[in-house]
Amino acid sequence: MTNYPYDRAALRANLATLEQTPGVAKPDPILTADNVVRRFGGMTAVDVDHVEVQRGAITALIGPNGAGKTTFFNLLTGFDRPTPASGREKASWSFDGKSFSRTSATKVARSGMIRTFQLTKALTRMTVLENMLIGAANQPGENLFVGLVKPLWAKRERENVERAEELLRRFKLDAKRDDMAGGLSGGQKKLLEMARALMSNPSMIMLDEPMAGVNPALTQSLLEHIETLRDEGTTVLFVEHDMHMVRHISDWVVVMAQGKIIAEGLPEDVMTSSAVIDAYLGAHHDRDLGDDDVINTEMIRTIEEQVREETR
Ligand SMILES: Nc1ncnc2c1ncn2[C@@H]1O[C@H](COP(=O)(O)OP(=O)(O)OP(=O)(O)O)[C@@H](O)[C@H]1O
Ligand SMILES: [Mg+2]
Repeated sequence: MTNYPYDRAALRANLATLEQTPGVAKPDPILTADNVVRRFGGMTAVDVDHVEVQRGAITALIGPNGAGKTTFFNLLTGFDRPTPASGREKASWSFDGKSFSRTSATKVARSGMIRTFQLTKALTRMTVLENMLIGAANQPGENLFVGLVKPLWAKRERENVERAEELLRRFKLDAKRDDMAGGLSGGQKKLLEMARALMSNPSMIMLDEPMAGVNPALTQSLLEHIETLRDEGTTVLFVEHDMHMVRHISDWVVVMAQGKIIAEGLPEDVMTSSAVIDAYLGAHHDRDLGDDDVINTEMIRTIEEQVREETR
């Protein structure tokens, strides 16, 4: 595992030698998380003892509705806080050599672990380019959400605009540069979310259901974009219900059910294992309290706080 980005065949061959068991150590983990617990009232949404994500790989996080996948993403990226659990060691995770326990979303983003965000109401009322410039704010030394305030982002260096334009060309959104993001199709919005996340040159990108609501005509291009990221050396961790996509592009699959990691392995093995099939069959189909709920409150509050600080 010396060459990076890894040769995909070599990476897969290496992963194929691992024991397919929850929490298994990876040859070169970029992310390691321990004791991550999140309770909502009496309900335990996430209870992950230990998990490692292989650098340079595409890892899929799958599991039935309500398994805790989105909550786990929110915890890892600092948009939610673990619940202290008595008798358990404190939650901790390390990313690319940096350790976190309680940390802010801004710090996590600056360390190079970026998650995509859905275009919430506030963001759909901004242009495509403005959305991209918010992504640039993730860069070291810059404020994560300052981009929401026009006079502040107007001062930004020309480089950010140039990078945004380059990414928009790559994602075939350049013709939409000055359109309101709300007017994009479902698939184009997903592309914009991904392009925006790339503004800060992340070493790992986290995608929550990148294929949801995407018209079949765009799914192929989304898949190709994700594979290209990986080929450029970006680690990809994604949540997805579309099992064809998971099988097609993942190097490794982690399965969550009822907050716990119940299986891990190669896509062709893990997705057909009886534990995984049982987890899906036994799942309750809860109402999806997906990221929009969390983001509308948590993210907007963060934005407001930071903007207030910035303009003081
Ligand atoms: N803010 C919240 N308040 C209370 N309960 C929550 C909250 N967020 C999530 N939950 C609950 O935590 C559990 C895990 O939810 P989560 O959204 O993380 O699941 P998921 O695996 O992402 O599901 P889906 O595949 O449907 O997106 C669910 O039972 C959900 O109802
Ligand atoms: Mg979810």
